Parts: sequence; structure tokens; C-alpha cells
Amino acid sequence: MRPPSLPAPKLVSPLFGGLYGLAYGIGGQPLVGRLVRTYGPVVALPVLGYGPVVAVADPALAKQVFTARPDVLLGGEGVGPAAAIYGRRSMFVQEEPEHLRRRKLLTPPLHGQALRAYVPIIEAATRSAMASWPDRSPVRMLDAARDLTLDVIVQVIFGAQTPTEIARLGKPFATLLDLALSIETPIRYAARRLGALRSWTALAKVNREIDELIFPLIAERRSIELPDRPGDILSMLVDARCEDGHGMSDKEIRADVITLMLAGHETTATTLAWVVDLLAHHPAVQERVRVEADTGETEYTEAVINETLRLHPPAPITGRMTAGRYQLGDYTLQAGTRIVLLLDLINRDPQTYPEPDTFQPDRFLTARPNPYGWVPFGGGLKRCIGAAFSMCELTTMLHTLLRSAELRPVSNRQESPSTRGAPVIVPSGGTRVHVTAFSRQN
Ligand code: HEM
Repeated sequence: MRPPSLPAPKLVSPLFGGLYGLAYGIGGQPLVGRLVRTYGPVVALPVLGYGPVVAVADPALAKQVFTARPDVLLGGEGVGPAAAIYGRRSMFVQEEPEHLRRRKLLTPPLHGQALRAYVPIIEAATRSAMASWPDRSPVRMLDAARDLTLDVIVQVIFGAQTPTEIARLGKPFATLLDLALSIETPIRYAARRLGALRSWTALAKVNREIDELIFPLIAERRSIELPDRPGDILSMLVDARCEDGHGMSDKEIRADVITLMLAGHETTATTLAWVVDLLAHHPAVQERVRVEADTGETEYTEAVINETLRLHPPAPITGRMTAGRYQLGDYTLQAGTRIVLLLDLINRDPQTYPEPDTFQPDRFLTARPNPYGWVPFGGGLKRCIGAAFSMCELTTMLHTLLRSAELRPVSNRQESPSTRGAPVIVPSGGTRVHVTAFSRQN
């Protein structure tokens, strides 16, 4: 059986496909939500330039997709639109076995011991950001969080310490991220598949700037004897070896640095903005997190972050592509079908979460998140490799913030998600809050 589909009459299907693409650009995820309510949790979307697309909002089918063999559902092709920005050498867009080989090399800097070393950096960066925020007028937390997370990621990847060095190293990556988030990227992907718009001057320019910046840094790390190398992620990548003893080439390291900078920055910043909005509107929850900030516990804070990610996963979709004919539940999909998992809708499935639209952090105190009903980090072999890093970063930032300041909302209305089709769903008003330091009240 074929999945239910939006109408696309044969003779004029490109016209309809173009209009559907445009409609997503304007209506974004809320529009997809309406389609799912009309057609059911599996719906075919004939979008021009993307080939057959099937959107999935069902947790059981999400489990089937996430656990499928990687030669049956392709992970790299599934996130194909990212390739233009991340580069074709990025592990993010590689298929197996290369993807796993590279993923293993990238894992140690984002887990365990390495994370603990980042905590003082994150605390100091948060305190320094707070010192720069206005004390009488509101802070636009989305912008503040973007600056702060960029500051942190530049420090942990490159070991940069002075504000000038941090700004110099962060600048081209911020430009690349702006391109990644622009509506131009998905349009260019579709156009490229249709044989048009092959060159992209702005992208080529920023890639040259990144080359000029990063290759000398890699060469410098390679020239320093092992014990004397700085303890930053760049050094760890230069030292990383596969089981057969092979390391990564300069170009592979460059690609992975870009991947970490881009995949981790906007997602974490957006989550911080969402969680700050929720805490500002739920003072009792804010107080409980503050108590943990003082005791050093993290259980409740993590539950708050998990619940925020459930309600507002910053990356609302991820994808896989069928290598051959594929049976998805009751539906047969043809080879080359792009399966798009609607993470935001899966997270709000009423069977998994009673009162799915309300903010109830306690639901994560009694139970660990269900791996296929709570999918802000995706799942399976490609599940976000930075999940532990972002949890450490968000917990540390929130605790540092709440140890010395109170968050109060500017308006009684909670933030709503931005409605335009975008790779990251941000709070539409940018989360404007008053951040009042306790010492200022005394
Ligand atoms: C709240 C923060 C974050 C969210 C919500 C998030 C979400 C995601 C999602 C949905 C995916 C796709 C997974 C899939 O297709 O199954 C992903 C992949 C990825 N993320 Fe994150 N991410 C976050 C933070 C980070 C951070 C901090 C880093 C690194 C510093 C990072 C690095 C990556 C990488 C490298 C991948 C590709 C993994 C692979 O292909 O194996 N992410 N992330």
C-alpha cells in the first residue's frame, strides 16, 4: 500500500511540488502538523527537487526507521541537504562503514573525562556573558545564548582564551552558520538536484576563510610533541587513531571541526532560550533548579532540560533515505524515498505523554526518556553524538545563571515556536527576559 499523499496531478506535478516547497518555507512545522492531523502519521509530500518524501510522526515507525540496517536506510543521504554546508567529507553525511569509523574518532572529546574539563570554561564564559547583559532592560536571550555558546565551543575546540582570539576564530563559523540556517540552503539543494545553481559565491568565500584559519592551526598542533599539546578538541582530533592505527587527514579534521561547530552551536543556544523562557514563566520550577545549583545536584535540572527538549526540540526533523524498496509499517516505499521523521510531533504523542502539551519536568524524574518517544537527539547509529556535551553545557550554564540571578518574563505570554520552515525552530520573540542579579537587589 502507498502512504496517503498530498495531491500532485501527473502533468503539473512540478508546479504542485514547487508550491508545496514554498508552503513549507512559509508555514513550516505547524503546517506539517496540520497535514498529519488530516492524513495520519505517515504522509507523502511531493516536494519539487527532493524526490519522493514521506513524513513520519509515529513513535513505533520512528523506532523501525532508527533501528533499520544502515545499508537499508541511508543516514548520510537522509541528511543530504546538510552536505553543501558541512562539506562532503563531514562524518554527518558519510555512509557506513566510514561514518562509524569517523564517529568513533569524534566520540572521546564529547564524553566522560573530557566533559568535566569543559565545566570551568562554561562557567567562566557564562559569568562573563552575564556581566555584559543590561541590568535594567530585558535581555534577548536567543541572541545572548548564541554569543555564549559560540564563545564556549570556540574555546573548547581551539583552546582560544582572549576575547580577540575567540572573536577571530568564531567569525567565519558564525557566517557559515548563517548560511546553513538561511532558506537559501534547502532551495539551493533542490535546485542543484534539478541541475541549476551549482556555484555559491558566499559559501566558497567563507570556506576559503575557514581554510586559511584552520589548516595552520592543524599544522601547528601536529608540530608540537604529544605531551605538550594543548588539551583542546583540535589536539584530540589530531591525536585520534582508529583501531588500525590510522589517524585523520587535515581535510577530515577540518570537516569534523565544522560539523561540531555547526551541529552543536545553534541547537544548544536555542534550547537555552527555550528553557529560560519556561523557567521565567514557572518560578517554582526555577526555584527548584536554583536549589540544585547550590547543592551541585543535577537530577531535576536534567529533567527540566529533557522536558524542554520534548516540547521544543530545536532541530524538528531528521531523515533517512531508502536504498531499495522498503516496507514502512503497512506502506511500501520506492527506492530513493526520503523518510523525514517529525521529531517535534513524535515527542508530543499522547499515548506516550499524558497532557503532551503541558510543561511537566517531573515526568522525567520518575522515568528515563523512552528512546523512541523522546527523540530530540534523533536515534540509532546517527543519534546526536553531542547529546552529553549539550546536557553538560546547558546544566552548567543554567546553574551558573541561577546561582546569582533571577529570571522574570517581560510578558505573561509564553514564547511560541517560529513558524517559518527552518532547520532550527526558535522562540518567535527571541525570549526577552529580565535577568536580575541578587546582589543588585541588596
Ligand atoms: C540541544 C542540543 C542538540 C540537539 C537538540 C541536537 C540534535 C541532533 C539531531 C536531531 C541529530 C540527528 C540525529 C539523527 O539523524 O538520528 C544530531 C546529530 C548530530 N549532532 Fe546534535 N544536537 C544537539 C547538540 C549537539 C552538540 C553540542 C554537538 C557537538 C558539539 C552535536 C553534534 C552532532 C553531530 C556530530 C551529529 C551527527 C551524528 C552522526 O551523524 O552520527 N550536537 N543532533
